[in-house]
Amino acid sequence: MNDAIIATPSIGPRLSEAGGAAITGIDLSRPLSPGLRETVLAAFHDHHILVFRDQDLSKEAQLHFTEQFGEIEEHVARHSAADRYGLVHMVTNVGADGNPTTKFTQLGNYHWHTDKSYHAVPSLMTVLHAKELPPQGGDTQFANMAMAYDALPDSMKRKIAGMRVVHSWAASRRRAGAPPPSEIEMTERPPVDHPLVRTHPETGAKTLYIGNHASHILGMPEAEGDALLQELLEHATQPQFVYTHHWRDGDLVMWDNRCLLHRALANYAMAEHRRVLHRTVVTGTVPR
Ligand code: SIN
Repeated sequence: MNDAIIATPSIGPRLSEAGGAAITGIDLSRPLSPGLRETVLAAFHDHHILVFRDQDLSKEAQLHFTEQFGEIEEHVARHSAADRYGLVHMVTNVGADGNPTTKFTQLGNYHWHTDKSYHAVPSLMTVLHAKELPPQGGDTQFANMAMAYDALPDSMKRKIAGMRVVHSWAASRRRAGAPPPSEIEMTERPPVDHPLVRTHPETGAKTLYIGNHASHILGMPEAEGDALLQELLEHATQPQFVYTHHWRDGDLVMWDNRCLLHRALANYAMAEHRRVLHRTVVTGTVPR
């Protein structure tokens, strides 16, 4: 099979201060040559969010594309309309009755988070491919946690150095107003702790590892830890650290969970228009 180049691959200018680059001239349904894979990975480390325009990948092709970057992670959520437990799952506002609904705004996707931070080994890369989009809105936002860390006053950097944060799926569900997890789910997904400031294993950048799953700080009274986490989250999601992706038909976006928070925006008529994206995830390493 031919490799993925369909024209000269072109990496566009940075989409925002916070990150993002659009890549054209590649057909991701074909395998990447080793050189092209390296080019894509280098751009991923430079820009954190890569937007591949004009793609049309089946679920199988998306899985093959994603596998070129590491081990695929199984999805845990049990809310999507189909493919609930598959390696490619749907991110959608379409309910079990086939109609669009607003009820999924309760879910963690609509709050700033980094994927699976409640796992001992959280996600590295998430790939989202647009299949059905509302006529307007339905954006995804990304916040650059290395920029946010760098911009902290030195006194705050000193204060948070060495702190560990408990990330808990149950806590983020509670915060989002979602129904509590079952006992089995709690056993499967107990809280874990990670460094508050992690070092990106590829770039060496220090990044804040926070978000909606960050529940409290080890060794600190819960209310105090929660207040500190909220303060850091407010700081880290200021507009200068954020890229907002306005989806276009055929977009496939991949992002780096080790240095970004993200969230879906409910900025469209959710009860009227379908929004369907296919999602695959590559497992990362233990945060250090
Ligand atoms: C996600 O949180 O992984 C999905 C974001 C989105 O639906 O835009």
